[in-house]
Amino acid sequence: MTEVKQHRSLRDAFGQFATGVTVVTALDENDNPVGLTANSFASVSLEPPLVSWCIDKGSTRFSEFADAQHFTISVLSAEQQELSNLFAMRSWDDTVFSDTEWSSGHHNVPQLPGVSARFHCETAHVYEGGDHLIIVGAVLDYECDPKEALLFFQGDYRALS
Ligand SMILES: Cc1cc2nc3c(=O)[nH]c(=O)nc-3n(C[C@H](O)[C@H](O)[C@H](O)COP(=O)(O)O)c2cc1C
Repeated sequence: MTEVKQHRSLRDAFGQFATGVTVVTALDENDNPVGLTANSFASVSLEPPLVSWCIDKGSTRFSEFADAQHFTISVLSAEQQELSNLFAMRSWDDTVFSDTEWSSGHHNVPQLPGVSARFHCETAHVYEGGDHLIIVGAVLDYECDPKEALLFFQGDYRALS
C-alpha cells in the first residue's frame, strides 16, 4: 500500500469515530486572538479537572497554541457550522476575528457566543504525538448552556436528529 493510500484509508477509519466540534481560542505572543476548529477534544480527568486536544504540527497556528499559557475550548452547537468553517480556514489570518462576534474572557482569551460549553484552561502538560502535539489543559473554570450538538462523522458535519 502506498503511503498516500495508507493516509487516506487511516483517515477514513479514524472518521468512523463520531465527535463533537470545538473551537480552541488563545492569544498569541502579541496578544492577538487566534482560533482553530478541533474535533480532537477529549475530557481526561474529573479530579483534577483536565481536558486534552491535539494540534497538527503543520498548522499555521501551531506555535501560537504550543506556546499559549491559557486557552478556551468552546463546544459548538448545531447552528454553528459556519463558525466551524471559519476557524478551519487554511492559512490563518487575523481577519477571521473581524468576521465574527467575540469578546475577551478569562486571561483575555477570546470567547465565542452561542456555544454549548466552554472550558477555560491553563496548559498543564504537552506531549509529543507524532505529527500532532497533545495539549492537556487544567480546567480553571467552565460554563455549560446545553444545546443540540454539532457533530463530525465520516469527514462531514452531522446533526443528532
Ligand atoms: C471538524 C474539524 C476538526 C478539526 N480538528 C482538528 C484538530 O483536532 N487539530 C488540528 O490541528 N486541526 C484540526 N482541524 C483542522 C484545522 O481546523 C484547520 O482546518 C487546519 O489547521 C487549517 O490549516 P492551517 O492551520 O495550516 O491554516 C479540524 C478541521 C475540521 C473542519
